[in-house]
Amino acid sequence: MGYAVFETARYMGKTGAAVKRALGLGSFCLYPIIFDMSINQPSSYVFPHKHLLGIEGLSRPDIEALLELADEEVILSRQVEKKKTSLRGRTQINLFFEPSTRTQASFELAGKRLGADVMNMSVANSSAKKGETLIDTAMTLNAMRPDLIIVRHHAAGAVQLLSRKVDCSVINAGDGAHEHPTQALLDALTIKRAKGRIEGLVVAICGDIMHSRVARSNMICLAALGARVRLVGPTTLMPAGIERFGFEIFHDMREGIRDADIIMMLRLQRERMHGSFVPSTKEYFRYFGLDDEKLALAKPDALVMHPGPMNRGIEISTDVADGAQSLIREQVEMGVAVRMAVLEALARRLPNG
Ligand code: MLT
Repeated sequence: MGYAVFETARYMGKTGAAVKRALGLGSFCLYPIIFDMSINQPSSYVFPHKHLLGIEGLSRPDIEALLELADEEVILSRQVEKKKTSLRGRTQINLFFEPSTRTQASFELAGKRLGADVMNMSVANSSAKKGETLIDTAMTLNAMRPDLIIVRHHAAGAVQLLSRKVDCSVINAGDGAHEHPTQALLDALTIKRAKGRIEGLVVAICGDIMHSRVARSNMICLAALGARVRLVGPTTLMPAGIERFGFEIFHDMREGIRDADIIMMLRLQRERMHGSFVPSTKEYFRYFGLDDEKLALAKPDALVMHPGPMNRGIEISTDVADGAQSLIREQVEMGVAVRMAVLEALARRLPNG
């Protein structure tokens, strides 16, 4: 079979340390993924985790339950009356140590649609600028008795560390090059709604795989849901040893996207690059940028995704980004729905939830 689902599960289960090394994740713990293809979701499904720190550690039923709930949130979000009361009385803090537009905005909207009191804290206004450690910040916020903290941090593993120090539920909104679980969930929801399924689809994740938490979360999520995941990018932007996990690796973009159902483009994550990984952005676009000519090699009904922010003319052309095959706007809409689903699933587990 050669494809990621079982291979990844096997590797994650048996050789967590090797996986960590290959993905450059340092010493933070990876949990084995449980792949259980046979369980159908009962509607009474209870999300079994206190935090959402990554896609890793979630079972297929966990992922499917969140997607099902998110589907309901889409219906609510399209109504004039967009409010629910499931988080009424709850306090949600959005703690962002890195800039963000869509992720922070969608977590804020999601919390508000569910009735929570939402506070946004960005690093520019926090004591972290004055030298306070992550843990001190966490302890300070914990003393204010929040119910949910959403954290974005530039260091891989920082969110997991913080989750150990606070009493409330913690959601990872992106930690370094490690994971961005709600992005992968919203991408899965977008694909499922557009294609009617994920199982068996060929998904090409293209670009800066090495520095991308979106790629990492997506490869685990999509493989768990039965997609055939291809990783496409220059050798310099591919994590060493990644081929051991059963993903198909391509260094030629044209080959990588040939007959694909979904093409997921990634930004060059310059903020995480130490040194020069591509000769020039012009050169990069020529070989790895998605334009109409390359897109024509994918299936005729192939769809294009990008987590944003997009760099037009570097990894994607304006024609493709705004074209008929683009799902980029849908992804933004699904972002709110998925974040509502995650907040709601975690809030059900809170005391008196
Ligand atoms: C992220 O936070 O990782 C974004 O959603 C994707 C990006 O920054 O390129």
